[in-house]
This record gives sequence, structure tokens and C-alpha cells, in this order.
Amino acid sequence: MENTFTLVAKTLPGFEELLAEELAALGAENINVLYRAVSFDADKALMYKANYCLRTALRILKPVMTFVARNELMLYKKIFEIKWHEIFGIEETFAIDAVVSGNYFTHSQYAALKVKDAIADEFRQKYGARPSVDTENPDLRINLHIENEKVTLSFDSSGDSLHKRGYRKAVDKAPMNEVLAAGLIKLTGWKGDKNFVDCMCGSATIPIEAAMLAMNIPAGYFRENYGFMKWHDFDEKLWKEIRQAADDEICDCDYEIMASDHSAKAVQIAKSNIQGAHLSHDITLLQQDMFEMTPPEAPGILLINPPYGERLEEKDIVNLYKSIGNTLKRNFKGYEAWVISSNIEVLKLIGLKPSKKIEVYNGSLDCRFYKFEIFDGSYKDMKIKKAENNIE
Ligand SMILES: C[S@@+](CC[C@H](N)C(=O)[O-])C[C@H]1O[C@@H](n2cnc3c(N)ncnc32)[C@H](O)[C@@H]1O
Repeated sequence: MENTFTLVAKTLPGFEELLAEELAALGAENINVLYRAVSFDADKALMYKANYCLRTALRILKPVMTFVARNELMLYKKIFEIKWHEIFGIEETFAIDAVVSGNYFTHSQYAALKVKDAIADEFRQKYGARPSVDTENPDLRINLHIENEKVTLSFDSSGDSLHKRGYRKAVDKAPMNEVLAAGLIKLTGWKGDKNFVDCMCGSATIPIEAAMLAMNIPAGYFRENYGFMKWHDFDEKLWKEIRQAADDEICDCDYEIMASDHSAKAVQIAKSNIQGAHLSHDITLLQQDMFEMTPPEAPGILLINPPYGERLEEKDIVNLYKSIGNTLKRNFKGYEAWVISSNIEVLKLIGLKPSKKIEVYNGSLDCRFYKFEIFDGSYKDMKIKKAENNIE
């Protein structure tokens, strides 16, 4: 590739391999799996494509400088040496995101402040004035990563986090991060090749991400802004071509995607988000109790994010998870059911043996994502069927 540079795509813990697979599918080379991140080689076109298409990336950073610093003064001096006035204008705004680890720097906010001062002073030296900081919507978002004495300064090509897809108009209690939802769907292996149900859909994040995945709708289809658009080398023509090429891949989903919730308020919110994603014709939305529902015909995938119990009484949460188990056994025969919860004790009350257990995080909550195979027929029949098909 000509004009190649390294990019670092950040993700949630546990999603690194999924992100590496997505990058490989986009044609990225030199892919390296890191902790909560994946690095890869890219040119400008791939940088635009990655921002537009990746479902499991949170942001895509372009490292511009690495150096050694063991204290704030060393950090300040190195940053001050950069000709910032040639990178962005005094009338433009900037922001610093900082992550520090190791013994030399212990306060990320303080390190960010030093970098901000060095940038402001470089401008002041040149023009006698400095650009303003805007943490919400800056023209240039700068990422500072310090691990022990190794400092990496990057420009954030995404700007706002990529989980902000642009379709979510409202949220109910405990809405799921869109990147988490997309990653969970990918972990189930579903590719739009059978029916899909989320019968505890809340704001409908999971069914919307499922429909976008099945229909090849780029993750950023509804989003208007990316950090790279404000960079001085922004190539609008190339960006439009990249968008168009990805949009040309959008297709229909041949299977049913069902979203439901027992709460009228949640269904109202789900409706406005589904409309925001222009998916009203592609997602069946119903207000119903999971314990009374009839799902679409098997085979299918069920993915639910039930309440974890923080706001519920002990007896209610116990009953909830027991009822989920009973409902799965009774009504979801032939389905693969996936349940995410931070409440590992009550997950056991589902009363089925998980065939997969995956550790994931929902925000700061350490969660388990369990797969239950709901066999149509007896366990013995299933064993015979699997043996006949040579399945482990
Ligand atoms: C943690 S929230 C789901 C959040 C959702 N994943 C999102 O992104 O907004 C759990 C949802 O389960 C719903 N729920 C709880 N018990 C239910 C039941 N018996 N039947 C259907 N929905 C139920 C709640 O109304 C709530 O919307």
C-alpha cells in the first residue's frame, strides 16, 4: 500500500479477536492483536472505511509520535517541540484524552493538563494567543497513552466514540453500548442466517445492531461526523467513494428479527430507535412478556440482556432467572439461547447447562455471556443426532 501508516483500533476487553477478523475482512494488513486494541497498516482509504464499517471498534487512533518521558517536565518539553501551529489553526479547538499506567505517571488528568499547556504555549510563542479546549466537540481530539516511560501521542480519527452510531434517539434503563451489542451478536456466530429474537429488548440496541449486521448496513451509516473530517488532509471525494462502495453492499435479511419487551415505555423507546435506524420494516416489535411469548419458528438465536438485579428484590431476581430457564425449555426448542448477566449466581438458576461461557464486560461490570442449546427432543436424541453428524 502506498502512503501506509499504522493505526490502532480500540475495543472492549474480550473483543480483540472479533475486531481483528473485521479488519481482515476489510483488507487490513499487518494486523496485531493487543489488549483492548488491534493495530494494523492502513492508508487513508482504509482509515475512512474502518471508521465507517467496523462494528466492534470504539475509536481509531493514528499514532503520530512516540518518545520517552519519566516526568511531567520531560513530557511538556517533548510536546512543546512539535509545531502545533502547523497542525491545526488557532481558531480551532482541541481536546486531550489520556490513559496512563506504570510508575512514572499516575494521574491521567494531570498528564493531559501538561500536554494541553505545552500545546497552548507553543501557539502563544508563535502568535501570542492560544486555541481553546472543547472536550465535547473538538476539531482535533488528541490521545495520550503512557505506559511506564513510553509515551504515544495519537490523533483520534473517529472523534466521538464509534459506539455513537447516530440512530439512537432515546434510551430506557441500562441501555447497552452499541459496540457491546454488536460484539455479542458476533460471538453468537449469527450472520442473518436464521431467525433472531431479543425478548427483553429495552431500547432495542441488540435487534438494531443485529439487523444492521444481517443487512450489511455500515455501522456508521447514520452518523454524520468523524474526527478525520476536520483534519487538514481530509479528502472528501475519497470519503464519498468509500461510503458509496460500502452502501452498495446493503442487502435484505431473509429471516425474522424480533424485538419485544414487557414494558410499554421500553417498547415506545425501542420504536423510536428502530425508526431512527429506518428498520421499522425489518424488525418486528411487540409489547409482550417473555414468559408468554411464542417465538418465530426454530432454528433461531435468542440473545437477551435481562436485568442483573441491582434494582430488584432478591426473591424477584431469583424468580426472574428461574422463569427464563423454564421459558427457554418450554418455548424455545431448537433455539440457541444466549444470556448476558453480571449476576453469575442467578445465571445458574436458569437450570440448563451452558455449552459456552464467555467473559465480557458491560461497562465496569464483569459479566458472563452463556450459551444454552435448547434441544428439540430429549438429551439422548440430541446425543444420537450429534454422533450421526459427527458433531462434538
Ligand atoms: C437491562 S434491560 C435491557 C437493555 C437493552 N439491552 C438495551 O440496550 O436497552 C432489561 C429489559 O428486560 C425487560 N424485562 C424484564 N422482565 C421481562 C419479562 N418478563 N418479559 C419481557 N421483558 C422483560 C425490562 O423491561 C428491560 O427493558
